[in-house]
Amino acid sequence: MGDDALSGALVAAVRDRFVAVNGDHPMTDEDDAYVRKHFVEATPAAMEQMLDGRLPLPSYVLSDGTPMVPAAHGELAEVAGGVDRLRDWFVAFWPDRPDVGEQEWQAYLSGQYVCLRDVSPVRIRQKTERIAEAEAAIALLRHDPHDPVGRGLLGQAVDGVLAVPGLDSILLPMTAYDRLRFGGPTSRERWVDAPRAEFLTPTPPVWPLRTERLLLRPFEQRDRDAFIDAWADETYASLLLTRTMNASEVREMVRRRTEPGDGTFIGLVAEREGEVVADSILVLQGTGLSEGEIGWTVMPRHAGRGYATEAARAVLRLGFEHYGLRRIVANLDARNDRSAALCERLGMRREVHRMGDFWSKGRWTDSYEYALLREEWQAQQA
Ligand SMILES: CC(C)(COP(=O)(O)OP(=O)(O)OC[C@H]1O[C@@H](n2cnc3c(N)ncnc32)[C@H](O)[C@@H]1OP(=O)(O)O)[C@@H](O)C(=O)NCCC(=O)NCCS
Repeated sequence: MGDDALSGALVAAVRDRFVAVNGDHPMTDEDDAYVRKHFVEATPAAMEQMLDGRLPLPSYVLSDGTPMVPAAHGELAEVAGGVDRLRDWFVAFWPDRPDVGEQEWQAYLSGQYVCLRDVSPVRIRQKTERIAEAEAAIALLRHDPHDPVGRGLLGQAVDGVLAVPGLDSILLPMTAYDRLRFGGPTSRERWVDAPRAEFLTPTPPVWPLRTERLLLRPFEQRDRDAFIDAWADETYASLLLTRTMNASEVREMVRRRTEPGDGTFIGLVAEREGEVVADSILVLQGTGLSEGEIGWTVMPRHAGRGYATEAARAVLRLGFEHYGLRRIVANLDARNDRSAALCERLGMRREVHRMGDFWSKGRWTDSYEYALLREEWQAQQA
């Protein structure tokens, strides 16, 4: 046989092995394009190793028959110190569960680990741990969508925490072909998209909120002019990160706040008898979106009448009761006495005095972080 015939026979043998493992399902044009983007063509040397059961089978076979493998296909063998050592090196990642190590090795060799961005024993273990966390979280959150442990577990599982990668960064999107070969939703649909939509996507409350004297609602286009005087005021802007703003800048800021976002930034306007007197923000953040950061301003001519306090109390209620937050914080320039006094009036605790950490308007200044936990807030309501 000539070289072409040899390599044709190799490709055909690999394809037969692939179909025996995966079944024969059609690849769409989108599937081909996806696979070309995330995988590379297998080399003849790699194909020979596959047929000997020493390297994983292809992850996909394109509709024109080309076998495709991860870009790092074969690199684990180098890390392991040679293809002959690969299996022992691989299963050693499960020292207490050799049966699991063997199962994972077989899954790896089958080429079917296509859900992972990087196929390695470390990533396989992380994926397994994160999915177990997501499962436990979903059970808790179906019972109580505000369960703090459930929110922490799900936040870590989906989005990760610091050095712990979440499924969002571990899992690839996968293809329509994968839905046929594995049945049902892809891993990413099941463990990232669905739990994020069900539990980690904030839904707005029923607006407006009402307090004794105020009506609180989201920003609207008609508020474009209400903040112009306040933002032109040097004293008002002095302890904010932003400098004073001109009328066009204020209108643009208000316009941006009326745009739909991902629901994690909640900007509110407080009205009294149809006049805007204050505004507040609540930003949902942290693991499982279970922490909120609150911010506030009162129109200078309405200061000193308790409007900021009244609006902030409503925002704390919104955060704890509607969004199920576990903790709400306020960060402020340590020179902002009025803001610190407002935190104290709200019963927030000064937890942190950061020295010289805050870059504001050309200088380093100290900052405070105040915080309130849900149970502390509940005790206040009793
Ligand atoms: C921070 C800021 C919102 C605080 O405003 P404020 O006017 O002090 O707060 P309030 O609207 O809650 O008013 C409280 C004052 O009204 C008084 N008051 C009157 N009626 C009241 C009522 N029904 N309930 C509560 N307080 C009342 C309080 O005694 C308090 O007065 P005091 O400061 O003399 O003790 C305001 O200074 C501001 O907008 N600053 C510029 C922007 C800014 O720095 N934002 C914060 C960034 S971290």
